Amino acid sequence: MKIYVPCDAAALGVGADRTAQAIVAEARRRGIAIELIRNGSRGLLWLEPLVEVEAGGTRMAYGPVHSEDVAGLFDADFTSGKPHALCHGATAEIPYLKKQERLTFARVGITDPRSLEDYKQHGGYRGLAAALTQKPADIVASVTASGLRGRGGAAFPAGIKWKTVLGAPGAQKYIVCNADEGDSGTFSDRMLMEGDPFVLIEGMTIAGLATGASQGYIYLRWEYPQAKLALEAAIAAATTAGLLGQNIQGSGKAFELAVRMGAGAYICGEETSLLESLEGKRGQVRFKPPLPALEGLWGKPTVINNVITFASVPIIMDRGAEFYQHFGSGRSRGTLPMQLAGNIKQGGLVEIAFGMTLRELLYDFGGGSLSGRPIRAVQVGGPLGAYHPDSQFDTPLDYEAFAAIKGMLGHGGIVAFDDSVDMAAQARYAMEFCAIESCGKCTPCRIGSTRGVEVIDRLIAGEDAAKQEVILRDLCETLTYGSLCALGGLTPYPVISALNHFPQDFVKPARASSAAG
Ligand SMILES: Cc1cc2nc3c(=O)[nH]c(=O)nc-3n(C[C@H](O)[C@H](O)[C@H](O)COP(=O)(O)O)c2cc1C
Ligand code: SF4
Repeated sequence: MKIYVPCDAAALGVGADRTAQAIVAEARRRGIAIELIRNGSRGLLWLEPLVEVEAGGTRMAYGPVHSEDVAGLFDADFTSGKPHALCHGATAEIPYLKKQERLTFARVGITDPRSLEDYKQHGGYRGLAAALTQKPADIVASVTASGLRGRGGAAFPAGIKWKTVLGAPGAQKYIVCNADEGDSGTFSDRMLMEGDPFVLIEGMTIAGLATGASQGYIYLRWEYPQAKLALEAAIAAATTAGLLGQNIQGSGKAFELAVRMGAGAYICGEETSLLESLEGKRGQVRFKPPLPALEGLWGKPTVINNVITFASVPIIMDRGAEFYQHFGSGRSRGTLPMQLAGNIKQGGLVEIAFGMTLRELLYDFGGGSLSGRPIRAVQVGGPLGAYHPDSQFDTPLDYEAFAAIKGMLGHGGIVAFDDSVDMAAQARYAMEFCAIESCGKCTPCRIGSTRGVEVIDRLIAGEDAAKQEVILRDLCETLTYGSLCALGGLTPYPVISALNHFPQDFVKPARASSAAG
């Protein structure tokens, strides 16, 4: 009998290892034979550690299961899928999961991330098999036709980037995966790498075949040690099986892959800083042009894509561009794994086609705030994303719809705040974040962000507030148009959205009373 206990970092953080040990010990004590599988997370984070039991061909979910609950579960005969207060029925029928459209995350939480066999049994490596029968230009054409856009934040069409690298002259080209995942409230890259590392490896291998690159690197944030273990084990297994190496599946084509750890700087998620860091230098933004696609890692043509971008490619190659293209709305095609975090009752991962509204995500999936108070503001798209008020919650989750309300979907991170939030403090925090994380290369960001914190402080203190607001808006305009990269360029999003949508929070008692006087 199979029992699944996630080895995902979010589950480990709430005691999954202790739960797994207690299950093994209790089964031994009772003489019950079990096979314990450490799967990825299903993404229902409020139920972690979520234990699943395969009973009669159906996987039943119990959660959150802590070590002290284990004896009681055995007493209730949970190994036969019997009822218990912690039982949520068949996992696949839990509405949070059932309503999703999991393409990229199709296997996460289902398979054993350490087992290449399991990966293959669940459709893995079919995309690579298809790619191996095609010319590079045809693979690129499929990725372009699928409508896949970069999932790291900027939403640039993946096929166009790949085409540039394919057409670039050069004997040595590189595939680089951006696994820095620095955005607040985001964890989809981590969940995928820990729960289904082979799909990323397969996607990067297809990118290598499509562009003529024979070496790949995964640039992984150092805070992800479990992902490192999972990736390295999967790379070793794929290499042994001839799915990586000098002669992939006897095709005569080569693709090698290695993991490199970052050192902990938000700016190293920006692609050119990332390349500097990979080359062993200080992570500082490069001027563009040249584009990394033409002169990237060590000056060679380089594809840089986010984890989810690469991981979306195998299903496109397997099921066809049209299948993928069919999901989504407008120019936002396919699915986006949204990550619900902050003050939210049911935090977790929701992979869904573009087009659902933010409100549906917050309430139908998230169940409202954890505190039970009204959700007042939501930051979408990481620390550089705008704060949205309730009046914008009916906006569909697609790239263009969010751009139209001066926001962005970014990497799909959603951080919810209830009505106890102080939005002036949030605006100050956003500006301070820019000051702390600035790489220092350009003046508007390096100096402007520090001055910006001072101006917000004076504004909040009510020192000639009207004038400070004018200065702040002017400074934000300079950041928007004068910054070299999007760290300085987008910091005005959270600052100005807080000011525009929640102006009352910037009026502190001193200012209010002087105004009244
Ligand atoms: C300050 C800053 C931080 C970024 N951090 C990340 C990150 O952590 N992960 C990521 O994939 N992209 C990040 N990006 C976007 C990358 O520069 C780049 O657009 C991305 O790696 C391209 O891959 P994609 O087209 O698949 O999204 C960041 C950009 C900026 C300006
Ligand atoms: S905007 Fe900031 S992070 Fe970006 S290049 Fe300029 S100083 Fe560096």
